[in-house]
Amino acid sequence: MTIENPVLRDVVRFENKDAYSRDAAHRFVALAAQSRSAQRPFTVALTGGSSPTTLYRLLTEPPCRGAVDWDGAHFFFGDDRAVAPDDENSNYRLARETLFAPLNTPEANIHRIVGELPDHDEAARRYEAELKAFFGLEDGQFPRFDLILLGMGPDGHCASLFPHKPALREQTRLAVASEPGLAPFVPRITLTRPILNAAANVLFMVPGADKAETVARILEGPPDFDALPSQSIQPTQGTLTWLLDKDAARLLKV
Ligand code: 6PG
Repeated sequence: MTIENPVLRDVVRFENKDAYSRDAAHRFVALAAQSRSAQRPFTVALTGGSSPTTLYRLLTEPPCRGAVDWDGAHFFFGDDRAVAPDDENSNYRLARETLFAPLNTPEANIHRIVGELPDHDEAARRYEAELKAFFGLEDGQFPRFDLILLGMGPDGHCASLFPHKPALREQTRLAVASEPGLAPFVPRITLTRPILNAAANVLFMVPGADKAETVARILEGPPDFDALPSQSIQPTQGTLTWLLDKDAARLLKV
């Protein structure tokens, strides 16, 4: 696996989750304003996990709440678990409870992965069809999201792209079914690496001492994309920003 063009990467450290979440909220509001000025929808891929929860809350409260044209915001998911939408493991459920319900997001603006389908490949294909229809894509084209939010697991996975798993090597599909390498051990559906790397802006939010060693390998170690999926996320024509809390950043040399 190779990366064609090295990208400019911004790594920013914060005292804690509250601080990086405020920064992420500021970036979200600024990008939403750019889309609005350009009279385009603001397209966002959300992440699951615990890292974005404070960000989602901040977005629903003043001043962010009043600063975004929410009718113009369209929410997709970087990945979801193959579970029902009200399951405790559902990333959609997390977003619905913490973001969509407080904001009264119109259903037409929520593009969820139908994780409850028994055939996970069919769930991935339906999600691809939704992406193609929304972004008006031909076969072989990838959408350019305005913002893709990502967390990172201690093993270096992001979305549901796990180390050494086939989903990580997918080059042509927009979304695929994926087997987890880490708990919770439920099958997943994930956006693929080419979509993540086609984004206009990718924002990682990574807290916690248990991720410090992997953060240091990704940001300061040699390339090893198959072992460190998050290291292979390098948008070819977009920005890449890593927001770290001080625990996650503690082994960085620079
Ligand atoms: C998921 C995620 C996943 C997550 C990381 C980090 O559905 O599991 O999208 O990629 O972002 O595992 O999770 P935490 O934020 O909980 O550490």
